Amino acid sequence: MKHSTYNVLEAYKRNKLLQYRCSLTLLLSLGLFLGSSLLFTNHLQRLQAEHAVHSSSQNLTSKSENNRCRVDRGTEALPRGIISRTSDFELRPLLGTRNDQKRSKLSMNLLAMTAGIEQKDNVNKIVMKFMLNNFTVMIFHYDGVVDEWNKFEWSSRAIHVSAVSQTKWWFAKRFLHPDIVSEYEYIFLWDEDLEVDNFDPGRYISIVKEEVLEISQPALDPKSYLHHPITIRNSTVKLHRRIVQHMDAGFECREDSEGPPCTGWVEMMAPVFSRASWHCVWHLIQNDLVHGWGMDYLLGYCAQGDRTKNVGVVDSEYVFHPGKVLLGGVGASKRVAKASDQAASATSANLERLDTRSLIRNQSLSDQQIFFSRWKRAVEEDDCWTDPYHQRG
Ligand SMILES: *[C@@H]1O[C@H](CO)[C@@H](O)[C@H](O)[C@H]1NC(C)=O
Ligand SMILES: *[C@@H]1O[C@H](CO)[C@@H](O)[C@H](O)[C@H]1NC(C)=O
Ligand SMILES: *[C@@H]1O[C@H](CO)[C@@H](O)[C@H](O)[C@H]1NC(C)=O
Ligand SMILES: *[C@@H]1O[C@H](CO)[C@@H](O)[C@H](O)[C@H]1NC(C)=O
Repeated sequence: MKHSTYNVLEAYKRNKLLQYRCSLTLLLSLGLFLGSSLLFTNHLQRLQAEHAVHSSSQNLTSKSENNRCRVDRGTEALPRGIISRTSDFELRPLLGTRNDQKRSKLSMNLLAMTAGIEQKDNVNKIVMKFMLNNFTVMIFHYDGVVDEWNKFEWSSRAIHVSAVSQTKWWFAKRFLHPDIVSEYEYIFLWDEDLEVDNFDPGRYISIVKEEVLEISQPALDPKSYLHHPITIRNSTVKLHRRIVQHMDAGFECREDSEGPPCTGWVEMMAPVFSRASWHCVWHLIQNDLVHGWGMDYLLGYCAQGDRTKNVGVVDSEYVFHPGKVLLGGVGASKRVAKASDQAASATSANLERLDTRSLIRNQSLSDQQIFFSRWKRAVEEDDCWTDPYHQRG
């Protein structure tokens, strides 16, 4: 399955020899286009805002000359000093105040996980470890069960978000907007079934900082349920950025392979993003393609530079993936299970699970095809975008 994915992208890459250049015409009409594209990207909004002039300014000329009247779109009606453009998930006391300046000196990191109550024991273990390292913890509940988590001491310190039968990527798109999580240096967007006996969040962070990994994941214990060779733990090293080996279907990862799945690649199960890479990745997540398949092949574009350097798998802090939970998450599988209740009622629980599993798999695969064709179209349509990974040949 995965190598067919790879072939889609590869074939498309080989055929695509076009160089993208901003034509003069486009540059000229860019001004016109800006207005409408603003509606779609925050980043552009901000760029535009920097050029916008405070319309109600008393001394318009002098103020704009000094660039003192730059405003964010939508905030023109407010004096600048009152505008709070970003936020965070810190819990605030109802009484008294907290010393924000003192707090902001500490590095802040975020663990966001989808979780169902059936996995509570493992989730508890994970959260305890992360909370010891002062992580902010956010739980996305996909099974509608929230209160039962209150028996854990940490529950009142976590942020709980509940939406029935939604996937990790659905939640992430809706609740982890870059402006909301801009305080966090690293964002761990994890599945709930990873076993963390050999994983320490603090040590992990110091490794990715030291090695400047913008996108990373912990390696998987070789006994795990595995999908991709690059994720397997190499016990002789601290981390690795590529694998060299023969893969399925005669495909080979060489020393000089330039892209996924040989290098510049992590799996969607336990990714860790730097603040800057998340700002990019959030925009890559499609609202409707909730299983997120295919994104792993394109994450490297968000690596803030060379994906063969800035993306890596950390071996010295690793996790075990038992493979109990489906790729789409248990919640997603339940949703399908409901839809196919009639068909499934006659079969045993195991068969039902198997059937659901293949339904989810099919859905994920078709999402992936849609995602790749969207990407291909976007690349073709955007004459001002240059593919950094095509240029290298
Ligand atoms: C406007 O700005 C100019 C240049 O800074 C200054 O000379 C002038 O006095 C200002 N006018 C008012 C009304 O503030
Ligand atoms: C967590 O934060 C507290 C202060 O808020 C600090 O004393 C402690 O060292 C921090 N722990 C880690 C592992 O950073
Ligand atoms: C593990 O890393 C070492 C050192 O880079 C390398 O020689 C070896 O081939 C790697 N093992 C695997 C299975 O990739
Ligand atoms: C999944 O797709 C394959 C090939 O398209 C098909 O043969 C199979 O029946 C599908 N499975 C389900 C559960 O829809």
